[in-house]
Amino acid sequence: MSALLEIDNLSIGFDTAQGMLLAVDRLSYRVEAGETLGIVGESGSGKSVHALAIAGLLDHPAARILGGSIRFEGRDLRGLSRREWTQIRGRHIGFVFQDPMTALNPLLTIGQQLKAPLKYHLGLSEREARQRCRELLDQVGIGEADKRLRQFPHQLSGGLRQRVLIAMGISLGPKLLIADEATTALDVTVQAQIVDLVMALKAQLGLSLIWISHDLGVVARLADTVQVMYAGRILERGPVDALFYDPRNAYTLGLLRSLPRPERQRLQAIPGQPPDLRTARPGDPFAARNRYATPRCFIEQPPLRQVVEGEAGHLSASWYDLRSIIAREGGI
Ligand SMILES: Nc1ncnc2c1ncn2[C@@H]1O[C@H](COP(=O)(O)OP(=O)(O)O)[C@@H](O)[C@H]1O
Ligand SMILES: [Mg+2]
Repeated sequence: MSALLEIDNLSIGFDTAQGMLLAVDRLSYRVEAGETLGIVGESGSGKSVHALAIAGLLDHPAARILGGSIRFEGRDLRGLSRREWTQIRGRHIGFVFQDPMTALNPLLTIGQQLKAPLKYHLGLSEREARQRCRELLDQVGIGEADKRLRQFPHQLSGGLRQRVLIAMGISLGPKLLIADEATTALDVTVQAQIVDLVMALKAQLGLSLIWISHDLGVVARLADTVQVMYAGRILERGPVDALFYDPRNAYTLGLLRSLPRPERQRLQAIPGQPPDLRTARPGDPFAARNRYATPRCFIEQPPLRQVVEGEAGHLSASWYDLRSIIAREGGI
């Protein structure tokens, strides 16, 4: 059976003055109906660029899809016309992109922004659209709907603006919701409320979810499956517990060790910088920052493959045996 979303060998480059920047490098993964996939990785790992490609919103002509396919319910999205895209976007796949201040138009009221797609896509009348907006605000936990609908984005707190964006993301009844750094700009308490809200909506509406964040802590709270990206590639993927308690990739371990924990005196940030994406990367892209790297890691790119016997869903791209390294060091 075909997956809800299936990305196969997707590569995306940017033409820059210094040459081609390879932002997404032969990315393949699938999302099944009902699944919550968390995607993590440091800034610059290709999370947003590939999400924009799924949304058909890549900035042309600077960005170029160099190869591969993006299929939604078996249909290849790459060949779609602009008009077909507007049908898919919102109706089949909902998006909540980072930074609610720029994602909302400052010059339009919340009501105007929420109503427009309802009228355009669903053909609702002004009255029907307004009623639907009230329901949507209620669904995302915003009270005093009529007052809020008349307000402009700057009159709302960051948390409320994010709730409005979620309302927009689900307003056309998509099957898949993609949220990119949806809680990054918010403080921790509000972040937790938004995560709870999205999880409740997911259950209520039967959504599949891709939650993208640089913060492994947030992703761990909601994902079934976690995928760790680095330099446009997936370095590890597996059930959330497997990645937390039995990581097999040194980059995942680095992210885990940089999470704040009560018993830890200080955070251990991953030393070094992500690689320059404009140059060819023959080996493991993380090798240069990995103190466990073997000579082979610098020469040959490890394939993403099953690493634990009997755990078909746990994949890592690594040549070294992280398990024995962790055991030697006395734990994660
Ligand atoms: N418009 C653009 N022009 C050139 N390079 C870009 C552009 N947008 C993103 N990139 C580059 O693509 C890479 C991946 O970026 P992005 O997907 O935004 O990372 P993140 O994982 O933080 O979301 C980065 O190196 C970034 O600098
Ligand atoms: Mg991003």
